[in-house]
Amino acid sequence: MTASVRPLIAGNWKMNGRRADGVALATELARRARSHDLACDLLVCPPATLLAAVAVAIADSPVVLGAQDCHTVAAGAHTGDISASMLADVGCRYVIVGHSERRTNHGEGDELVGRKAAAAHAAAMVAVVCLGETEAQRNDGATLSVVEKQFRGSLPASATADNTVIAYEPVWAIGSGRVPTNAEIAAVHAHLRTLARDARGGDSLRLLYGGSVKAANAAEILSIANVNGALVGGASLNAEEFWAIARSCP
Ligand code: PGA
Repeated sequence: MTASVRPLIAGNWKMNGRRADGVALATELARRARSHDLACDLLVCPPATLLAAVAVAIADSPVVLGAQDCHTVAAGAHTGDISASMLADVGCRYVIVGHSERRTNHGEGDELVGRKAAAAHAAAMVAVVCLGETEAQRNDGATLSVVEKQFRGSLPASATADNTVIAYEPVWAIGSGRVPTNAEIAAVHAHLRTLARDARGGDSLRLLYGGSVKAANAAEILSIANVNGALVGGASLNAEEFWAIARSCP
């Protein structure tokens, strides 16, 4: 952990939850966050259908709101899409872009991800830019070159440490219960830190780890050098579990 960087614990709810579930989860997190001094920032990224209701549930609490994707332009004839400025209007301060499920299921590449991140910046939001290698790429010894290419290709010229967060998520670790070794995480995060110093963001760019983070492994992962928080999927759907992860921040 870089001492000067306040960690971020982000919950990616993915395509889960009816209104009652999402409001109950957000209400419980907000209740806890109002009465505890956390050592991290706490972010929830519900599906778009729940953003307005969750915004109400977390009002006047330290919990902040984010979305899971945005379009590259602010408005127009784009059926089914949602722009960053619309997300900001409903109370989002963050938006995830380039998650591996979008890269894989929707064919999103680095250039498009970079334009989405730029759209987030134009709407005064923080872009959480996801990257990470597949299992085949890791087996080929290509992990560092893959994440470097994604880092360079997915960060727009507007990216700074204040408006951008990187989430390193090995594709094979997402939802699988499998996690890289501490040394493997440390090696990727050290490389990302070097890239941040060379390219943009420097020492204060937040570098999250994501992929099968849960309460039982969070403290260990969050203590690795250059890990400035976590992007949590499945375990963020349970208030007790997600709260325990947030409390694991050093
Ligand atoms: P997981 O998902 O925590 O369920 O592995 C992480 C993510 O996809 O962001």
